[in-house]
Amino acid sequence: MENIKAYVQEHKERFINELIELLKIPSVSADTAYSHDVFETADTVKASLEKAGCDFVEICDTPGYPIVYGEKIIDPNLPTVLVYGHYDVQPPDPMELWTSPPFEPVIKKTDIHPEGAIFARGACDDKGQMYMHVKALEYMVQSNTLPCNVKFMIEGEEEIGSKSLSWFVERNQEKLKNDVILISDTGMISNQQPSITTGLRGLSYVEVEVTGPNRDLHSGLYGGAVANPINVLAKMIASLHDENNHITIPGFYDNVEELSLEERAEMAKAPFSLEKYKNALQLNDVYGEKGYVTNERNSIRPTLDVNGIWGGYTGEGAKTVIASKAFAKISMRLVPNQDWEEITELFTKHFNSIAPAGVTVLVKPHHGGQGYVTPIDSIGYKAANMAYAETFGVPAIPVRSGGSIPIVALFEKELKSKTILMGFGLDSDAIHSPNEHFGIFNYLKGIETIPLFYKYFVELSK
Ligand code: BES
Ligand code: MN
Ligand code: MN
Repeated sequence: MENIKAYVQEHKERFINELIELLKIPSVSADTAYSHDVFETADTVKASLEKAGCDFVEICDTPGYPIVYGEKIIDPNLPTVLVYGHYDVQPPDPMELWTSPPFEPVIKKTDIHPEGAIFARGACDDKGQMYMHVKALEYMVQSNTLPCNVKFMIEGEEEIGSKSLSWFVERNQEKLKNDVILISDTGMISNQQPSITTGLRGLSYVEVEVTGPNRDLHSGLYGGAVANPINVLAKMIASLHDENNHITIPGFYDNVEELSLEERAEMAKAPFSLEKYKNALQLNDVYGEKGYVTNERNSIRPTLDVNGIWGGYTGEGAKTVIASKAFAKISMRLVPNQDWEEITELFTKHFNSIAPAGVTVLVKPHHGGQGYVTPIDSIGYKAANMAYAETFGVPAIPVRSGGSIPIVALFEKELKSKTILMGFGLDSDAIHSPNEHFGIFNYLKGIETIPLFYKYFVELSK
């Protein structure tokens, strides 16, 4: 495997340029205006897998966006690694906050990425990280070092809930049979300290609508005499947390797994600077649930956050009006053992129960998924750790992440295999935000590290 470093050095310009081409296609799954581009991206991914050396690649149609499936089976008796990734990206808005257009990738240096980072929507989440696997395969095929079978499953709806992928996985258990699932769609602590994500939070996403009068009203003639849906919604939302920032929905914490003090002490060993954290976000202080520190609040604890709130007049100048309706989008991040459908029900019941007379409330569930935790004594985890240790010079630290990849729990249920989350992004890479980027160092390091995972996974499987 000594050669992988040399191979990456020799081909890095091309690796970067190929990723840049992929990033130019605006594959925004949430917005149907981009639908054509999402389909085109699937074709581009298919072509890249063929070129990298898959023996068989196909576009699998679904009720939604297609899944790109590829494989290289060298010997049915050898283990099989299933690589999952997504080629869809988040919407780029707010556009005016990008320092360069989101679908015109450019390389810029930053404090954290002195050797440069590619700025574009999807650079890190997940086109850049997904493409590392395509290039790692290219290396293994070119150098004749692919030690086992490999399958690729790259979807186009991760950012909108992976509906079609669930449909696909349920119908293709045999085709997707594997010994381990490998995903790069998470982060690591820093470029000096790799980490392996051992947990993902679950998610329940709902939209609420509060209706007062049957039409917008003059706020002088009617103000004070009828319920204002925006006032009411604000009050209802505020009541969802108490003074300690605990969530007030009855039953919400019932199944939450409490970590032991030992486990929490272990977590606290991961390098973290509160000062740097605050500085990076220009905050004068952090905020959250009483009794827990920042790295616990954003990983092992469930949360409830408003993602968007609207209603009434928001145009230029002033308009004196009481809106007929007010809306909000609310996400709840869940921890293992909390069932997302149960939590959605608890939320719905509670939200209806706190509505005052004078308004009606409608709760619309969007999507959700279960959380995930993976043990650190599996062959897959050990192989990943050995791979990181070799390319970074230090072993990886296990870290539970606050983000969600709901499909991972479904993989375990349907395909009965464990997922290894080998992420190479950094929290500061601004995924889902304006100016998303992915370090060149991280991209190339990923390509270097992945073939070692295969090598050690096969060795440990013997
Ligand atoms: N790749 C992210 C999830 C992620 C990022 C996990 C960093 C851990 C570290 C994924 O694309 C994502 O954004 N997931 C969504 C959930 C989805 C159902 C919309 C999320 O976490 O908000
Ligand atoms: Mn992602
Ligand atoms: Mn994402």
